[in-house]
Amino acid sequence: MIEDRTAKVGVIGLGYVGLPLAIHFGKSGFSVVGFDLDSVKIEKLLKGESYIKHVSIDPVTEMIEAGSFDVTSDFDRLKDVDCILICVPTPLTDKMEPDLTYLVETTETIARHFRAGQLIVLESTTYPGTTEEMVLPRLEKEGMTVGSDFFLAYSPEREDPGNENFSASNTPKVVGESPHPVWKWHRPCTAVLRTWCLYHRQK
Ligand SMILES: NC(=O)c1ccc[n+]([C@@H]2O[C@H](COP(=O)([O-])OP(=O)(O)OC[C@H]3O[C@@H](n4cnc5c(N)ncnc54)[C@H](O)[C@@H]3O)[C@@H](O)[C@H]2O)c1
Repeated sequence: MIEDRTAKVGVIGLGYVGLPLAIHFGKSGFSVVGFDLDSVKIEKLLKGESYIKHVSIDPVTEMIEAGSFDVTSDFDRLKDVDCILICVPTPLTDKMEPDLTYLVETTETIARHFRAGQLIVLESTTYPGTTEEMVLPRLEKEGMTVGSDFFLAYSPEREDPGNENFSASNTPKVVGESPHPVWKWHRPCTAVLRTWCLYHRQK
């Protein structure tokens, strides 16, 4: 599905990172659904207004009109996508550590709505171990098993808002797959992620 671009990509959090990423996937030929709790952002996108100065609304409007991009606050629709990219905020706390409040909330939302076969990728900036220690147990407690029911990876975004030379299309990325030590899924998961990475950074 990734190779022939029939995979549907879901992006949660349409901010400085998520909106350009959603546009990038849409321009790359994927069908995209953007999710955000902020109904004002959803309404603006549907009305053809950008809320990020350096992000042009034109590709968003074109993709919405073509039916390849949709934006919503209806998280029930997470089950309709094949990949879920998490791009929610992780602001620093007083102790200069990432505040995981938004991420915990999003993970629990995904846990209520995801289905077998999906690839979930954490794109937010956070400390090592978050995927395995916070995200994974919340998803597996719903009776789903990583590697057989779903795939999980961490790939922190490296967006530099407004940089005219580097964007989501040409910035190299690191990807870490779930460290769950089960060989039977390790190889297929790696193959999925390699393919995903390849397309993630292709124009
Ligand atoms: N902005 C940057 O330059 C930059 C660069 C690299 C990495 N990052 C990282 O990327 C992540 C996202 O940052 P950003 O700058 O895009 O944040 P942002 O505040 O611009 O956008 C985040 C979006 O997520 C939405 N959101 C919050 N909670 C949600 C939830 N539970 N469900 C759905 N949507 C929700 C918000 O409404 C907002 O639209 C952070 O971890 C940040 O550290 C940001």
